[in-house]
Amino acid sequence: MKTIGLIGAGHIGSQVARIAVAKGYSVVVSNSRGPETLSALAAELGPQARAGTAEEAARAGDVVVVTIPLKHYRQVPVEPLAGKIVIDTNNYYPARDGQIPELDNESTTVSELLQAHLPSSKVVKAFNHIPAAAITTDVRPAGAADRRALVIAGNDADAKVTVARMLDDFGFDAVDIGPLSEGWRIQRDTPGYGPHRTAEELRRDVAAAKRYADM
Ligand SMILES: NC(=O)c1ccc[n+]([C@@H]2O[C@H](COP(=O)([O-])OP(=O)(O)OC[C@H]3O[C@@H](n4cnc5c(N)ncnc54)[C@H](OP(=O)(O)O)[C@@H]3O)[C@@H](O)[C@H]2O)c1
Repeated sequence: MKTIGLIGAGHIGSQVARIAVAKGYSVVVSNSRGPETLSALAAELGPQARAGTAEEAARAGDVVVVTIPLKHYRQVPVEPLAGKIVIDTNNYYPARDGQIPELDNESTTVSELLQAHLPSSKVVKAFNHIPAAAITTDVRPAGAADRRALVIAGNDADAKVTVARMLDDFGFDAVDIGPLSEGWRIQRDTPGYGPHRTAEELRRDVAAAKRYADM
């Protein structure tokens, strides 16, 4: 995998782009307003980066990261992402996203919503529980005692292997928590959501997570 497409270039998207470029990947960054509004970020990122439309980022990426306010997820282009691995960083904040009844009643999870919107893509949940700034500061070489771990969840085993390898390249361990339906274990207000955790600590937090209804 060589090129990462980014749909969303805000706090998280720009940080994923920075660590990806630092680790030798190419990136195509996009937002809702158009590539001309991303010239400063593209210049900062250098020759391995370019700005495009969301559709262009989707087509260019070997892996594509969707990192936008959840309320806009239905605007993510479907056809150019068919067959691709799509990383979902999104979280549900009703104050920002409005009420989403199927999340309020916990009949589904954030990343299952994106998977339903992108039925032919392989959605992998990742980066949803790390503060944006830490994506470039918490990276460590493999084997470091304090290496930060990030959860991955997904319904396609091979896609998770690819994403775990990408995280390792960046400087993180991956903790696979199973299918997308398990993603609630790392949603807002769960123990693992936010703090720096090693793989062992994160596994403990994920096991201790409770559904909102049981909190
Ligand atoms: N901030 C964090 O520390 C953090 C940590 C983990 C997870 N998350 C989650 O990750 C997601 C992104 O968070 P963020 O903090 O990076 O948000 P953000 O700083 O507000 O950036 C959002 C980005 O999405 C773009 N965007 C919005 N609608 C779009 C569309 N239809 N097509 C393409 N791009 C679109 C925006 O572009 P325009 O500016 O042009 O509209 C902007 O570049 C959220 O779901 C958030 O909850 C955030």
